[in-house]
Amino acid sequence: MRVVIIGGMGHVGTYLVPRLVEAGYEVINISRGRRSPYQPHAAWKSVRQVVADRETEDKAGTFGQRVRDLRPDIVIDMICFTATSASQLVEALNGEVQHLLHCGTIWVHGPTVQAPLTEEQPRRPFGDYGIQKAAVEVYLLNKARRNGFPATILHPGHIVGPGWVPLNPAGHFNPQVFASLARGEEVALPNFGMETVHHVHADDVAQAFMQAIFHRSVAVCESFHTVSPAALTLRGYAEAMAAWFGQSANLRFLPWEEWRTTVSEVEAAATWDHIAHSPCCSIAKAERLLNYRPRYTSLQAVQEAVSWLIEHGVIDVSNQ
Ligand SMILES: NC(=O)c1ccc[n+]([C@@H]2O[C@H](COP(=O)([O-])OP(=O)(O)OC[C@H]3O[C@@H](n4cnc5c(N)ncnc54)[C@H](OP(=O)(O)O)[C@@H]3O)[C@@H](O)[C@H]2O)c1
Repeated sequence: MRVVIIGGMGHVGTYLVPRLVEAGYEVINISRGRRSPYQPHAAWKSVRQVVADRETEDKAGTFGQRVRDLRPDIVIDMICFTATSASQLVEALNGEVQHLLHCGTIWVHGPTVQAPLTEEQPRRPFGDYGIQKAAVEVYLLNKARRNGFPATILHPGHIVGPGWVPLNPAGHFNPQVFASLARGEEVALPNFGMETVHHVHADDVAQAFMQAIFHRSVAVCESFHTVSPAALTLRGYAEAMAAWFGQSANLRFLPWEEWRTTVSEVEAAATWDHIAHSPCCSIAKAERLLNYRPRYTSLQAVQEAVSWLIEHGVIDVSNQ
């Protein structure tokens, strides 16, 4: 069986491609050739690399044909961000593939109404990224359920792993927040710190893709949350990370308008995006239908990533 993965050298592909090779699939990766996997693995030696820019080829209307010409049995699309881009691929692959797996996002939901969110709850996305990804989901589920196109959608939370900076307890990506918690320094959180974030380890996302392939008959026509077993409040996350460093969290809580002035504009925008969503997603559907069993809690995933940041000198947690 031949799998074509589009964008397979990133966070998820680092884990998913070796899993596919080990399961006996012939794997072809399409990417621009700029990135390498975060970790080396012997499996990459047997992966065929096709260099192509999806954006450019989408504009030229040739990308779908390129994928079809590789004669895949299964296509995994890691980097589709608009319904137009999805429709090009679906039109080209209609009747030609056994399974198309699309990487979505929990941002299709918009703000949480009832926690934990289930896949069935109505979508209220906001922000261009979430709105476009929700439109891709609507398009693919419609094609799957009305026209029998074999699509599955997996919605990851905040993807974490060794090699990049995880979303921190203040809801943004400045890794120094972890260093401050490690030193027992004061960390300010917005509001009461009760808004939520929902991480997932990249290897658990890879596991979910494998399980969706293995359980194709119940995976097609469906979307699944792909997150850790439980979301974290910012406060709980900060306290647990401080404890992991052997400290008591020294937290200060500020109203949003005041808090935002204490960080950069980029950090404030990232935090606003995360706490305005405050995701808390159920994995019951993926557990039941796909036998998805995440290996990492949110904290375990983050701690592995932060250990990497420390080992590689990205943050200094010593008390100078
Ligand atoms: N990051 C998160 O926390 C998060 C959360 C929820 C959902 N998601 C979803 O996860 C997906 C991304 O997965 P990821 O985080 O594993 O990816 P990633 O780390 O961003 O890696 C992207 C991959 O796609 C390739 N790529 C990027 N632009 C390309 C282009 N124009 N043409 C061809 N290849 C291209 C990259 O390689 P080259 O640069 O070499 O081309 C790389 O292999 C997206 O659908 C996103 O919506 C991400």
